[in-house]
Amino acid sequence: MPMIEMAQSADTTTIRDLSVDTFTETFAALNTQEDMDKYIADNLSPELLQQEIDNPNSTFLVATVDGVPAGYMKVNTGAAQTEDMPDDHMEVQRLYILKAFKRNGLGSGLMRTAFGMARAQGKTKMWLGVWEHNDPAIAFYKRFGFTQIGSHDFVLGDDRQTDLLMEANVEPKE
Ligand SMILES: CC(C)(COP(=O)(O)OP(=O)(O)OC[C@H]1O[C@@H](n2cnc3c(N)ncnc32)[C@H](O)[C@@H]1OP(=O)(O)O)[C@@H](O)C(=O)NCCC(=O)NCCS
Repeated sequence: MPMIEMAQSADTTTIRDLSVDTFTETFAALNTQEDMDKYIADNLSPELLQQEIDNPNSTFLVATVDGVPAGYMKVNTGAAQTEDMPDDHMEVQRLYILKAFKRNGLGSGLMRTAFGMARAQGKTKMWLGVWEHNDPAIAFYKRFGFTQIGSHDFVLGDDRQTDLLMEANVEPKE
């Protein structure tokens, strides 16, 4: 049986490699090379990721399989949220599993860990933005009780796209 772990991480190299590799796997076929390069340079630079890791309102969770990084999630609270949201909300800003490890429950494991964190911090809502055409991710989020509450723009390079805003209740502790 593979050993699967979900843990908080502050290791910049692991997070940078997972960020670039999963973003490229997910979106390269759908976007121009220029837009991809621009997005990675502007949003996933080692300097910027280091700032995000150092932000006390952001947490990176990494899923490993037999010690190999297989996916990650970034959650935000307070002022780190990318939209103006109340303090009792937690944002799932990024959730990415490497292709080779998809459909093994890792995304679910990270999501359950994030809900546990939100519950422990007394949050009442979890929210996220997802590209309107990302059907697999939308199907995945619906399983966790997320429903659409609106939409917002997402800029990939020079391309303006529409993200659905989705929200789920965080059930309080029993
Ligand atoms: C969406 C994502 C995070 C799901 O992670 P995962 O580890 O593959 O998901 P799990 O194995 O935990 O799947 C749990 C359930 O979600 C649903 N689901 C997951 N992937 C799905 C897909 N491609 N199509 C339809 N339903 C899907 C299924 O109901 C699945 O249960 P099942 O495998 O028993 O049928 C992953 O596919 C991913 O990283 N995608 C690319 C990046 C991305 O789009 N991230 C979201 C950006 S907002």
